[in-house]
Formats: sequence, structure tokens, C-alpha cells
Amino acid sequence: MTTLRLAIQKSGRLSDASKGLLKECGINLQNGKNKLLAPAVNFPLEILYLRDDDIPQYVEDGIADIGILGENVVAESAKNIMVKQKLGFSKCRLSLAIAKSEEFTDLSWFQSKKIATSYPQILSDYLLKNNIQCEIHKISGSVEIAPSIGLADAVCDIVSSGSTLFSNGLKEVKVIMRSEAVLVANENMSIDKQAILNQFLFRIESVNRAKSSKYIILNAPNEKVKEISNLLPGMRSPTVVSLSEPGWSAIHSVVNEQKFWEVIDQLKSKGAEGILVVPIEKMIL
Ligand code: PRP
Ligand code: ZN
Repeated sequence: MTTLRLAIQKSGRLSDASKGLLKECGINLQNGKNKLLAPAVNFPLEILYLRDDDIPQYVEDGIADIGILGENVVAESAKNIMVKQKLGFSKCRLSLAIAKSEEFTDLSWFQSKKIATSYPQILSDYLLKNNIQCEIHKISGSVEIAPSIGLADAVCDIVSSGSTLFSNGLKEVKVIMRSEAVLVANENMSIDKQAILNQFLFRIESVNRAKSSKYIILNAPNEKVKEISNLLPGMRSPTVVSLSEPGWSAIHSVVNEQKFWEVIDQLKSKGAEGILVVPIEKMIL
């Protein structure tokens, strides 16, 4: 039987979220402590744990069929792999940062400076586009200490909460790229493997769609039901049921969370009461 091999980060920012996604997709892994390869027990998938920077090469070579990693790592690696799906988690940015005490004017600050980074490819493309000449010093870890030990004038590194920069006396002055986790795939997968990938993507989409939607329940006077329903179109149309109190109905609907915040004031002004907003676990269209 065919099995799809998924590479995920062994430990780090992406690791827990990647395992969390599998769980939300109803895919359970065989427990094996410190194993680098773990089969799923209820889906034709096996998990290969790697350093995230190694995942593009493994996927290009077909050692892993698919992988979960940051767009920043995909861009830096420049491997021949396909980005199949944005996953919406591990959002971060790749930024230029300098010592807090420095006064930053504009990009020309970086002219002829030395920048430490683990992303020399993305950085040199960016500097070239902006006509800045710099010396790029490639280091693979602990980039943030480079300025304080005199190794560089600035860093170009991943910023998520910003606490790493802060605790190293640095400030973010320019965002070079924004990034989130994506699912990547080998370019030459067999038909069987593609079929498994499509099932996996279907589950991911159902989970992600549910995350951005809410189930709404509210009460409304009967004469306002039509107007309020128009504000909450739902999947096909809202459910309207009578309350035991005459003249009142309950409206149930599914809305995009963003859309909900846009219409909340209108709902209230049209007489909606007792509005409940409930999370949805999975959503199949
Ligand atoms: C990045 C970066 C910092 C940290 C920033 O590492 O190098 O160490 O995240 O996060 P913060 O702004 O929340 O403090 P990453 O997770 O990409 O790890 P890796 O380079 O070891 O893969
Ligand atoms: Zn990494």
C-alpha cells in the first residue's frame, strides 16, 4: 500500500503547530520516543522529523514527498518544489535589525555595513533591488548576538514576537518579507501519492475554513428576521426557528469571523439580542 511521507520540523517554532495540524486533521501518530520516522495509524502517511532548513532538499529529492515549512525557508533554499497550500500558522517576518542606540534614517543606513544572517540569498536579492552594497556574513544560528560581539553592524533575521531582538538590544527597522507555514510537495509524485495528498489537503482546508468561520445564534423579532438574515447569508441560507415567546425567532448561521465584526453593529441596531458566537471544528462545503 502506498504511503505519503511528510517532513516536518523536529523542534522549533513550526514543530508543535505542524503536529497540531495533523491532530486537527484526525491523523494520529504511533508513539515512539525519539524516533525520526513515525507512521500514522489511521491515514496512509508517515512523518519524517528534520531540521527545517533541510526539508526543501529532502522534498526536491523525493526522500520526503511533502513537507511543512516556512515560506522564508522555501524562498532561501531556491529548490524545485511546489507550494501547495498556505497553512495560516507560524506567521513571522524576515527583518533587518540594528542596535537600539543607533539612529535609523532609511535603507541607506546599511550602505557598506556588515550584516549577519541565515538568509543570504533573500537578503542579497533585496539589497541588489534597493541598490545597497553590503558585506553579508552568513551564520546558521544565534544571529542576534552578532552585533554585540562585533561580528556585524546589523542582522537580518526572523522576527515573530520580537522578544529575541529585544533581549539582545536590537530594534527592527525594515521588513524584507512576510512568511507563514506552507505545505510543499515534490514535483514528480506518483498518481497514488497525489491521491493521498489530495485527501490530506481536503482535511486541511476543512480545518482552516472552520477556523475562520463562526456559528452564530441570535434572537430577533419576527418582523426583523428578513433584514437580519440578509446580513448573515450562511452556507446556503440561515436557519430560522420560532422561539416559544410569540413574535420572536432564533436565527442560526455561519459567517466568516471578519465579516461578523463588520455586521455586528447593524445586527444590534436591527434588534438582534442574545447573540452567541460559537467555534466550528470542521467545515465541509
Ligand atoms: C527565529 C529567529 C529567532 C526567533 C525569533 O528562529 O532566529 O531566534 O525565531 O522569534 P521571536 O521574535 O518570537 O523572539 P527560528 O524559529 O526560525 O529557528 P531556526 O532558525 O533555528 O530554524
Ligand atoms: Zn531553521
